[in-house]
Amino acid sequence: MEKEIVAIVGSGLVGKSWAMLFASGGHEVRLFDSIPEVLAGTPKFIHDKLHALEAKGQLKAHKLNATEQCKLITAATSLADAVNGATYIQECTPENFEWKVKIFESIDKALNEVGNTRAYIGSSTSTIMPSKFIANYGIKDRMLIAHPINPPYFVKLVELVPSEWTKPDVTTHVRALLTSLGMKPIVMNKELPGFALNRVQYAILNETWRLVTDGILSVEDADIVMKEGLAPRYVFLGPLETAHLNADGFKDYCKRYGQVINDVSQDMGGIPLMTEDSCQEIDRQLQDMVPNDKLPERRNWRDENLAELATFKEKLGL
Ligand SMILES: NC(=O)c1ccc[n+]([C@@H]2O[C@H](COP(=O)([O-])OP(=O)(O)OC[C@H]3O[C@@H](n4cnc5c(N)ncnc54)[C@H](O)[C@@H]3O)[C@@H](O)[C@H]2O)c1
Repeated sequence: MEKEIVAIVGSGLVGKSWAMLFASGGHEVRLFDSIPEVLAGTPKFIHDKLHALEAKGQLKAHKLNATEQCKLITAATSLADAVNGATYIQECTPENFEWKVKIFESIDKALNEVGNTRAYIGSSTSTIMPSKFIANYGIKDRMLIAHPINPPYFVKLVELVPSEWTKPDVTTHVRALLTSLGMKPIVMNKELPGFALNRVQYAILNETWRLVTDGILSVEDADIVMKEGLAPRYVFLGPLETAHLNADGFKDYCKRYGQVINDVSQDMGGIPLMTEDSCQEIDRQLQDMVPNDKLPERRNWRDENLAELATFKEKLGL
């Protein structure tokens, strides 16, 4: 893969993680943020983070050490400065429709200003479909959604969602770039609300919600269903291959279990409403497990575990 010049627009949680990921592949990274103090603090944050990962043996890339990777990441003085000569732009600004429209206007303008007609552009948006906000820009045929899962440094899935205007070679190139960094991009052939991950996640959340609010399971037990039942296999197998292995192939699985799956699914009924009452009850039980004032500590615990898991999967070649 040729070395890219990557501009990261928005140096928040996700922008920083993307920056570290691109640097791990030896790409030059230029960070930009509209808040000068955020931008000023970012290189030191990334420096400390990469060195801490190196000390724990969790640094991505075997060719470059943390110091070499840090040298590849610089802060740009303006959006135009960031995108000047960039071959790829990853937009990471807040999830707000009006802001996204404005920032894409600014990126379009900045690219015109510096005469950059080749950069491809990926948006990190978690919820906004590409056709909703890029129809009016010259960059629409070079742009797609590249939705990461937080933190992209440790979670490999990226959902690529091209719009009807995205040129096919843009999707092919971005997919290859991300794959070269060890990521696992998937391409959606049609844009859908929630993309793929959240559609699956919401199906799980809906049924878990129903089991708890109908008084069938406690919150603690409902979470055990996932973490001690489904998740151990799902760490390395998808639901379809899981089914394939649970019988003599997928056709046999459908023959054996198709009807019962259909019957149980019919029994589930409609989408449960997340009303204030049911929300309060679930929150009450969750506060016993993890009170709000312990959330930062628990998030660090989660991120540590994700890092360990990523390292373990790497070792197993998964
Ligand atoms: N946090 C997550 O779990 C997660 C996961 C996947 C995708 N995303 C998506 O990534 C995007 C960024 O999310 P985040 O959590 O990093 O947000 P964040 O609030 O941590 O960071 C956003 C950054 O953008 C900067 N910004 C705002 N306006 C700007 C502008 N006009 N130009 C340049 N910088 C600007 C802000 O100062 C801030 O530093 C969102 O679209 C979000 O949906 C987030």
